Amino acid sequence: MNIAGATIFIVTTICALMPLGITDSAVKSEETKTEPSAKQNTSAICTKCVCDVENSLIDCTNKLTDWFTDEEWKSLQNQTIVFESIKMEHNNLTTIPALPAYGVKNLYLGYNQIASITLGAFQNLTELTKLDLSNNKLTSKTLVPDVFKGPYSQQDFEPLKNLKSLNLGYNLIHSLNDDLFEHLPYLEELSLSSNTFQVIDRLTETAVAGLSSLKVLDMSFMELSTLPDTIFHGPRDLDTLILSGNLFKQVPKALSFSKNLKRLVLDENPIGNLEGENVFPAMTSLKYLRMAYMQDIYKIGPGAFSELQNLTELILSDNKMLTELDLHALSKNVTGGDFLDYPPLDKLYLNNCNLTTLPREFLVRWDKLSVLDLRFNPWDCHTSNEYMIKYLIPRVNSTTPLLAKNVKCEYPEELKGVEVLKIVNGDFESATQGSSLVWIGIIIAILLAIPIILAGMAVYKRGHCRLCKKNEAANRTLYSRTSFNEDFHI
Ligand SMILES: *[C@@H]1O[C@H](CO)[C@@H](O)[C@H](O)[C@H]1NC(C)=O
Ligand SMILES: *[C@@H]1O[C@H](CO)[C@@H](O)[C@H](O)[C@H]1NC(C)=O
Ligand SMILES: *[C@@H]1O[C@H](CO)[C@@H](O)[C@H](O)[C@H]1NC(C)=O
Ligand SMILES: *[C@@H]1O[C@H](CO)[C@@H](O)[C@H](O)[C@H]1NC(C)=O
Ligand SMILES: *[C@@H]1O[C@H](CO)[C@@H](O)[C@H](O)[C@H]1NC(C)=O
Ligand SMILES: *[C@@H]1O[C@H](CO)[C@@H](O)[C@H](O)[C@H]1NC(C)=O
Ligand SMILES: *[C@@H]1O[C@H](CO)[C@@H](O)[C@H](O)[C@H]1NC(C)=O
Ligand SMILES: *[C@@H]1O[C@H](CO)[C@@H](O)[C@H](O)[C@H]1NC(C)=O
Repeated sequence: MNIAGATIFIVTTICALMPLGITDSAVKSEETKTEPSAKQNTSAICTKCVCDVENSLIDCTNKLTDWFTDEEWKSLQNQTIVFESIKMEHNNLTTIPALPAYGVKNLYLGYNQIASITLGAFQNLTELTKLDLSNNKLTSKTLVPDVFKGPYSQQDFEPLKNLKSLNLGYNLIHSLNDDLFEHLPYLEELSLSSNTFQVIDRLTETAVAGLSSLKVLDMSFMELSTLPDTIFHGPRDLDTLILSGNLFKQVPKALSFSKNLKRLVLDENPIGNLEGENVFPAMTSLKYLRMAYMQDIYKIGPGAFSELQNLTELILSDNKMLTELDLHALSKNVTGGDFLDYPPLDKLYLNNCNLTTLPREFLVRWDKLSVLDLRFNPWDCHTSNEYMIKYLIPRVNSTTPLLAKNVKCEYPEELKGVEVLKIVNGDFESATQGSSLVWIGIIIAILLAIPIILAGMAVYKRGHCRLCKKNEAANRTLYSRTSFNEDFHI
């Protein structure tokens, strides 16, 4: 250790210990003890920010007015521990300077005012794996390829070879430079969410098409109404695509080129009924499809999902208009014979829609579903819906009881608001016609007997006011149940 270095070290150590009220002499005695672990992890930064050694995290959220100084970086660099994550969110930082060499892997710079980035800002952060620049003021002009320039080697700049995840969401970007990712060839996750692109122009398409390792792409809330057909030609391994909150009126045709896509989220788009031309193209790898909060779908027609023959999870919840589910929405006539092929569905969510009946033929292996969510729909409890009432709901009750609650009848009028589960055991057909008199009579007798007994008890215990109140409440609920029962058999 040279003299200058030693001096700087002592100065930083003192600075770090000062706020803790440790005096000069205490520092000196620390020095003589020469316990490396004890002195090497006291960094000046840890007095400003929270240093969480256990989680290898420096948390400077809402704690800084500017970037770390050179001395602060040096004191960090000299510690035996390398903090893998640094959070600098909510600090009003406006620019990113060239950062010194440090082994940080996850750098969170969201919720600042960052509008400019020095060229090669990250080139000495050779371990950098995840970079979050979301919720800043980045523009298309700021984001030039050399911003992500890697370390300089003898001939040329090397790529930032560890950077796998880049979040550019919630900025002011309208288009991407066509070479923006030239230094990031191994990027696996990219978010462009909530930047108002409106259209994917040719330059942006080129930039995205060049990301041959891309696995996850978030293009939600970008005001997009179309996608270029060929945008997914480049990212062959694209696994997850999020297109929520855009302006698509149809299922984008470009999807037919994302051959390896496994997960697709299309929530909150004005996509119309899934029928005719507007059905899903062949996406044989797709396992997870989510289309919730669709305002304009009332019909899922024949063949809507027929080409998704590997689908295991289908989420169609919160589609307030959705009223018609065609029996051939999932099936495909593959062999030309008597049997249809169905995807190996495991989870089906149809909650919070406007469905009245569930056609039995919609699926074959209902018994293979581990989740069937039918809650909060205006179910029709006529005989036409018998399969759902007599078979599906009891099955849901035995596997996932929570999902059997709030599956209620809307029709016929006399069963309105009644849990479907409650009419399973009774012969619902005759119940609706009011002829199962013995069964109903017994229930009425019980329901009438209880309040009479309780009322008797209340009279008996008159004077004990806390008890009186309780019994009154109990009486009220029981009386309302009796009146429900009257509705029930009219
Ligand atoms: C950090 O350690 C190096 C040698 O390992 C030394 O040259 C340098 O002066 C030290 N810096 C500080 C700030 O302690
Ligand atoms: C420094 O690290 C040692 C173990 O590595 C730990 O016992 C000690 O509490 C740390 N000191 C500070 C100030 O973080
Ligand atoms: C950032 O700026 C806002 C508004 O000027 C202020 O309220 C906030 O305290 C600043 N944050 C920091 C960490 O200085
Ligand atoms: C980054 O590393 C290079 C080469 O080691 C060095 O010349 C340069 O000063 C470093 N940049 C910063 C900001 O530390
Ligand atoms: C469908 O899923 C199975 C099992 O997960 C998998 O082995 C098969 O390769 C998938 N088919 C396609 C076309 O991806
Ligand atoms: C739900 O469907 C019924 C017909 O079954 C229709 O009258 C009603 O308008 C629909 N509600 C919505 C919100 O689309
Ligand atoms: C499948 O298609 C063939 C020929 O188009 C037809 O004869 C057969 O009935 C169809 N199978 C089913 C189950 O609809
Ligand atoms: C629903 O399940 C519960 C146990 O989880 C059982 O006690 C009850 O009888 C079931 N209801 C019907 C109608 O099958």
